[in-house]
Amino acid sequence: MSDAIRLALPDVGEAELAEVAAVLRSGNLTMGPKVAELEELVAAACGVEHAVAVSNGTAALHLAVLALGIGAGDEVIVPAYTFPATANVVRLVGASPVLVDVDPDTFNLDLERVYEAVTVRTKAVLAVHLFGRPLDWSALQDAVAPELALLEDAAGALGARWQGMPCGGLGTMGCLSFHPRKIVTTGEGGAVTTNDPDLAASIRRLRHHGLDPDSDIAEPSTNYRLADVLCALGIPQLRRLDALLAERTRVAAAYTERLAGVVELPSADRGDTHGWQAYVVRLDRRNEALAELRAEGIEVQIGTYALHHLSAYRDQGPFPGADAAFARALALPLHSRLTDAELDRVAEGVARFA
Ligand SMILES: Cc1ncc(COP(=O)(O)O)c(C=O)c1O
Repeated sequence: MSDAIRLALPDVGEAELAEVAAVLRSGNLTMGPKVAELEELVAAACGVEHAVAVSNGTAALHLAVLALGIGAGDEVIVPAYTFPATANVVRLVGASPVLVDVDPDTFNLDLERVYEAVTVRTKAVLAVHLFGRPLDWSALQDAVAPELALLEDAAGALGARWQGMPCGGLGTMGCLSFHPRKIVTTGEGGAVTTNDPDLAASIRRLRHHGLDPDSDIAEPSTNYRLADVLCALGIPQLRRLDALLAERTRVAAAYTERLAGVVELPSADRGDTHGWQAYVVRLDRRNEALAELRAEGIEVQIGTYALHHLSAYRDQGPFPGADAAFARALALPLHSRLTDAELDRVAEGVARFA
């Protein structure tokens, strides 16, 4: 069998080794100066005033919902097709995630359905730029009343731009992930972004037991800190974010060239920049392709989850868009080291199931 083609491979090298080594030598492994350095780079990348680093993308979402004071009796609109964390965090604060169907071509929220799902209990929309494809933000704003908070699950959208504006900087708060399948990785990590100083202060307290700058705790919380040693890993990647995105865009363009007219392909809206967290094609024989390509050492993956297929969220529906996305989506290997020969092999493999 030919060599395996990895689904994801972090773009880390000498610069990351040097930064991590410096932190190890410093003896300060937990929250310290590297957190602030990473936060500054994240805030700049998202075009916002504040970024607060946290231990993962799920923690970012959890703290964003907590910081808005959302709780029992409240509803938050979430897509029916997304990584489960988007809805889980709403349940974790005692509120109700209201699932809304997605457009199976874009994988993002069907905005007409969002309008229909708003009730007097709705406090926020937790909108996802799924796989790095920017959601039409002005259409979302038009779909709901201005008093509703619009939160971005930008877990996979660092580097993506909606009409020139960075994803992660569009909503009341943005939530990023630095999981290894993301463009910038710290192994585990995440951040909350915002232009609101009070929300930023609240997130800072909530990630550190609820402690305020006077060492008092008014609202007990947990420990969602990100360690300096992990921030050190992310900092060089953030500095070369444009180059990392260019590499992912190269891979996406190579797949698009090879698979145009063969299977249904991902793209961004005109004027938008796709963040290419994942390159997800759509095809009817997805399950066959998944099993056989994996058997050949090509690490393909499903897109993500249809939440109403999970026991926790089964009572809502129907969601035909999410069903179609869940059944037909296939994520192809996507990382900066993919060679032309590997891209050929993946594309030829996928084409057999078209
Ligand atoms: C859309 C979405 N939201 C949230 C998350 C959670 O991020 P993390 O794995 O860093 O907790 C992910 C991770 O894959 C994601 O894809």
